[in-house]
Amino acid sequence: MPANGLPQHHPGYQSGFGNEFATEAHPGALPVGQNAPQKAPLGLYTEQLSGSPFTAPRHLNRRTWTYRIRPSVMHPPFRRTDNRLIRSSPFNEVETTPSQLRWDPLPLPTTPTDWLDSLTTLAGNGDLTLHSGVAIHLYACNKSMTDRFFYTADGELLIVPQLGALKLHTELGLIAIANGEIAVLPRGIKFRVELADQEARGYVLENFGPTFRLPDLGPIGANSLANTRDFLTPVAAYDDRDNQNFEVVAKFLGNLWSTDFDHSPLDVVAWHGNYAPYKYDLNRFNCINSVSFDHPDPSIYTVLTSPSELPGTANVDFALFPPRWLVAEHTFRPPWFHRNFMNEFMGLIQGEYDAKAEGFVPGGASLHNCMSGHGPDAETFDRASRADLKPVKLEGTLAFMWETRFACRPTKFAMDTAQLQHEYFECWQSLRKNFKP
Ligand code: FE2
Repeated sequence: MPANGLPQHHPGYQSGFGNEFATEAHPGALPVGQNAPQKAPLGLYTEQLSGSPFTAPRHLNRRTWTYRIRPSVMHPPFRRTDNRLIRSSPFNEVETTPSQLRWDPLPLPTTPTDWLDSLTTLAGNGDLTLHSGVAIHLYACNKSMTDRFFYTADGELLIVPQLGALKLHTELGLIAIANGEIAVLPRGIKFRVELADQEARGYVLENFGPTFRLPDLGPIGANSLANTRDFLTPVAAYDDRDNQNFEVVAKFLGNLWSTDFDHSPLDVVAWHGNYAPYKYDLNRFNCINSVSFDHPDPSIYTVLTSPSELPGTANVDFALFPPRWLVAEHTFRPPWFHRNFMNEFMGLIQGEYDAKAEGFVPGGASLHNCMSGHGPDAETFDRASRADLKPVKLEGTLAFMWETRFACRPTKFAMDTAQLQHEYFECWQSLRKNFKP
């Protein structure tokens, strides 16, 4: 037991995406051959966590059986607590502009601020009560959550660190992530965020829609993009602290609610099932690209997708723009000018993004909504139009996009913050008229 009194567990992972995992932190804690013995081993309580309706088809069915020190129901009623800067559907605080928007990174806090207190909603869409749409949050914090835990019943969380490593202590085990990695925490999973460094900053997508899955690969075949075995789910790890006060904050129907526990809620000693958090190292992404000319559509960069009821129309796609060779012949190589049916939120994890010469920095964000023109800035256009088209390796870059079905509506914070770049539009204004009939 370290000096801070908190249990520490060495991370250990099980490999695969959506597997039927089975893990126990104590030998003999996991029943064999049945889910609900009359008496669970070691005096544990049996509790099922459903991530889909019981009747979902088998390939979509998600549930996990947990064997825990106390059942989750042991707490007094929730009371409303401050929503902080977290906002929710219908995201109508301010009218949504069709203008292109870009933000500088959130400043790091100057007073002790944990992950939850720093969670700030930048934009969102859809209706969480209809399990549709997303919220896009940012965090910038400098303090670990020790006796406070959080879960959201409104969606699953995709966490993308830009600065500082995180230890996500979840009900189902410990996930450690740093810059270049992501974690997905299923709807309802309780967790606390411990900082492995002094400060941390990053992006959080709250997906109200169907749970993330790997995209179909079509003619690409059985391999590539994000490979199944590179997804890692933690082994069971439990926190047996009790006889002290713990706070559990729930996000439910867009509001935050708080209750007190007299024990840690992360008390699952063993579990089995396919509804569990996972991490993924973005450097493992097997990027596909043109070896002849022109651009394939950026859907080839999809890491994870949350579909909607319309074929090919994602509630949200998580796309990655990793280091890669650019070899296309007689082709304008950066992302081309574009107006899109879908809505594009972008973040930058490392380096520079190849469509922008300056202004889009790690930790920053941009939003180009339905039918709003966007593309390379004037400097990038000029350089790429004249470039010698020899093979070039794009190095040290890691940008991502959350491409969503519905227009992303910025929050009042997003439009009022000093981080909003009011001069963003200027990066295209010096594009010259080159037409010579
Ligand atoms: Fe685009």
